[in-house]
Amino acid sequence: MSRSWVEVDLGAIAHNVAVLAGAADGADVCAVVKADGYGHGAISVAQAAIAAGATTLAVAQVDEGVELREAGIEAPIWVLSEPEPHEFVATAELGLQPAIYSEHGIEAAAAVGVTAPLTVHLKVDTGMHRVGAAPADVVARARSIVSADGLTLGSVFTHCAVADEPTNPFTDQQLARFDSALGELAEAGIEVPFTHAANSAGTLVVPSARRDIVRVGIAMYGLAPSPDLAEVACEADLRPALSWHSRVSFVKRLAAGNRVSYGQRAAVDRETTVATIPLGYADGFRRGLWRDGSVLIGGKPRPILGVVTMDQFVVDCGDDDVAAGDDVVLIGHQGGSLISADDLAAKLDTINYEIVCGISKRVERRYR
Ligand SMILES: Cc1ncc(COP(=O)(O)O)c(C=O)c1O
Repeated sequence: MSRSWVEVDLGAIAHNVAVLAGAADGADVCAVVKADGYGHGAISVAQAAIAAGATTLAVAQVDEGVELREAGIEAPIWVLSEPEPHEFVATAELGLQPAIYSEHGIEAAAAVGVTAPLTVHLKVDTGMHRVGAAPADVVARARSIVSADGLTLGSVFTHCAVADEPTNPFTDQQLARFDSALGELAEAGIEVPFTHAANSAGTLVVPSARRDIVRVGIAMYGLAPSPDLAEVACEADLRPALSWHSRVSFVKRLAAGNRVSYGQRAAVDRETTVATIPLGYADGFRRGLWRDGSVLIGGKPRPILGVVTMDQFVVDCGDDDVAAGDDVVLIGHQGGSLISADDLAAKLDTINYEIVCGISKRVERRYR
């Protein structure tokens, strides 16, 4: 029996894909399943998303694309970062379609393309300043691609840095830089089959970012791209697909004055029942949650007592009747109570993306 498992509702994934396709206003949907489907399990999510109408999948790294192909997934798969030169053979052989933006990346792709043709997607850095060709280099890069035997320019795209901040004018500036680069390509006579710029936030709230296809990650998993967009996500009826579960492994009464866990930081101020939960930070339940985190047992929040350790932590259940084997919810509903990925993120001063991506391989994934 697993000590801890996440349940992924594939019906929610399918529902969210349909919601986002509606929001995308006629654009196609690319389902972003990098980082093992944001912790939800890339293969199952990819299959559900494609069945629900997504036309394309996206991963961050070649090995993530290999995993999908080995699972028999035949849909187009984009690799959002430029592969390392030695990865282009596998990329081409498996029909993965990489992002490309550097001259040496194009050379490496072209060398492989001679025997195994590749479709590549040219990324423009319009302000994120992570990766991408500078706007001034876009025409030269596109020329290198279209003049290489065996390379096809699949699309030109960019990535928005602040689309999740609806009042931030920088998204418009990025899109203006993108349009200017596209204009230069048109003037140079380079045909661009399609373009894309929207992530989840862009899809939901930036109509001008919705080009031919939208690349949706977090919203497909039913989570808001930022607290600013929580209401938008709720109104759109996005449904969180993931819940996280465990069972109480051990229960005891502790007298007032006892202190709990490493560092003995938390004191029990009255006699109380404490329950041990058999997972810890090695499972992705972050140590910092000890300060004001809780879990649900018997439909009620139970505060964490003492630091979360690598494999276990302890919660305070007061005088309630709690027994080994009782169901524990770490993320999700129990009775009338809810702990969301956003709640954990707020306590840890991070974002919901980091919470779900951080649930480790130790934790079994179950699918509904
Ligand atoms: C290039 C690119 N496109 C799309 C996405 C999906 O973003 P989101 O999960 O905010 O929808 C990501 C994720 O970081 C990305 O790196």
